[in-house]
Amino acid sequence: MTQPFDLPAYLETRRRVVDQALRDFLPKASEWPERLHEAMNYSLNAGGKRLRPILAIAAAEALGKDYHAVLAAACALEMIHTYSLIHDDLPAMDDDDLRRGQPTNHKVFGEAIAILAGDSLLTEAFFTIAEAAKPEQAAAALEVIRRIAQASGSRGMAGGQAVDLLSEKKKISVAELERLHRHKTGKLIQVSIEAGALLAGADKRQFESLSRFGECIGLSFQIADDVLDIEGGEEIGKDIGSDVANEKATYPALLGLEESKRLAHQLTEEALGVLGDFDAKADPLREIARYVVYRKN
Ligand code: IPE
Ligand code: IPE
Ligand code: MG
Ligand code: MG
Ligand code: MG
Repeated sequence: MTQPFDLPAYLETRRRVVDQALRDFLPKASEWPERLHEAMNYSLNAGGKRLRPILAIAAAEALGKDYHAVLAAACALEMIHTYSLIHDDLPAMDDDDLRRGQPTNHKVFGEAIAILAGDSLLTEAFFTIAEAAKPEQAAAALEVIRRIAQASGSRGMAGGQAVDLLSEKKKISVAELERLHRHKTGKLIQVSIEAGALLAGADKRQFESLSRFGECIGLSFQIADDVLDIEGGEEIGKDIGSDVANEKATYPALLGLEESKRLAHQLTEEALGVLGDFDAKADPLREIARYVVYRKN
């Protein structure tokens, strides 16, 4: 009999691999300029689910490869994600005090260093991929850099963040809200899976299925995040009720909690459907798609 897949154990082992690799890649806090490196390490080591790097690893595993070829890109994705969180929490953005169960970066290091820690994590991400790429991986690494850059900038995460801020206190349409969520959060999640697929040598069909899978769970992830901002408990490790306080455009604000949850589950089903041609090696991805909407933090 085959054992049922143990997602908590899977997430834990992959998280450890990612945490160790992040420590290896990032400049030490003892390295000049110490205060800036301390701030970068502070947010990166504060915890976090490591979902984006784990998705890159799980995508490679779905194609029969292990994490070694994707580890640098996986860590780069976590650096970019952590930068986005540091900036997201700044007074000029969501103005939050708690992140990953700890005071936000600017609360500890001040706004100027927090801004520079974010800038540096973003830049360090691309250095990390370029530095680690072996000659035989050069073409794939370049394509991964291209895609991650696009998914992070004004055509992706930063663009979504801009529209998120410009939409505060406004009534936007569901179509606009979907577009905003697909950009501010969806694209980085989607590209995490794409990066894993590319570095594992996916063929065109495999790549397209995995990319579509990433698109579905990227949106369901942010819908679940909006729901958690209302229903979440202490384990969420960030300020609850921040969206209502900032009059954000969110799924619950526009459609209500029940409809938001229904849509998130519908996206999970869609994501699972896309993986129809994949065997049991894609079970981690399947279980993560479910976890994205039932998680408590
Ligand atoms: C929070 O992301 C910010 C969003 C994009 C919704 P996560 O929920 O993945 O945060 P960490 O990395 O686990 O702290
Ligand atoms: C942020 O969305 C998405 C990012 C790109 C950081 P939120 O503002 O809802 O994220 P949280 O709830 O603060 O983690
Ligand atoms: Mg925000
Ligand atoms: Mg926020
Ligand atoms: Mg949120």
